[in-house]
Amino acid sequence: IKKIALLTSGGDAPGMNAAIRAIVRSAIYYNLKVVGVKNGFSGLINNDFIEMKSHSVSKIISRGGTILKSSRCPEFKMQQGRERAFNNMKAAGIDALIVNGGDGSFRGADLLYKEFGIPVIGIPCTIDNDIYGTDFTIGFDSAINTVIRAVDNIRDTAESHNILFFVEVMGRHSGFIALNSSIASGAEATLLPEIQTDIDQLCHFMEMERRKNKTSGIVIVAEGDEEGGAAEIAQKVKQRLPNYETRVTTLGHIQRGGSPSCNDRVLASLLGHAAVKGLLEGKTGLMAGQVNREIVFTPLEEAYTKRDKIDKNWIEISKIISM
Ligand code: F6P
Repeated sequence: IKKIALLTSGGDAPGMNAAIRAIVRSAIYYNLKVVGVKNGFSGLINNDFIEMKSHSVSKIISRGGTILKSSRCPEFKMQQGRERAFNNMKAAGIDALIVNGGDGSFRGADLLYKEFGIPVIGIPCTIDNDIYGTDFTIGFDSAINTVIRAVDNIRDTAESHNILFFVEVMGRHSGFIALNSSIASGAEATLLPEIQTDIDQLCHFMEMERRKNKTSGIVIVAEGDEEGGAAEIAQKVKQRLPNYETRVTTLGHIQRGGSPSCNDRVLASLLGHAAVKGLLEGKTGLMAGQVNREIVFTPLEEAYTKRDKIDKNWIEISKIISM
């Protein structure tokens, strides 16, 4: 391997830039040429390549988003799209690819590797933390810290005005962001996609809270909850508890932005380096992750099919300590 390419794909995550920096600097250290691909897989299809030097990644470690830009690329889901991408890579003399992204991006990366035999390594970058083969994904820690800062602010208003707030957080089909931020912000209740939501039970619980002289409350709602988003759930609660003053806040994309946390910068730096070293050692079709502080390589297919699951014990503990 003499020349590698890297791209960022799917939803941006804080720490992607730290990963880009680590990949570029490690590759240069190991005497490889590095090419940055703009706009995720679209850049592979459209020949949007830029040569990366050490100074190209100066002072980006503290920045959110991704300097290479990102996209979700429907064309890459088609075989012709991937073939075009492969031909462009061959023409540019690219021997291997590092994909920074989440499950959708790994699916694409895995197909490229399986169909064309090009060495590919994935790095888990998503705020959702829903990837198997790593304790944490890059971006998750920053996102939950953004969420708890927002919930702390909402708490001030909830208490001052005796309001029951429903705060919707991201996470797609996974409750990691909701559960972690709920525990850390001391929310009164958490609604997760992994657990069937019972609105009557939630209302009963809220009534009991009122009897304990709690005049306000925070319910964290994961966007993937089957009973609906925060607005729908708030409406259902209001129908049953008309005397409650309720408000809804959807945190939205503020969760994806901002300067990455220390943990995310370190994780991204370690995994970026591991990906380059892994390619040089002949590893391919794998994701570099960190499990129990060790770097671990997991087949891409397992990373995006098995998915990481929240620990159900944490749900019980969060209930016990929020009463
Ligand atoms: O995967 C990251 C994520 O932010 C999810 O939590 C969310 O469901 C989704 O992306 C939103 O994507 P988009 O910005 O494309 O609407």
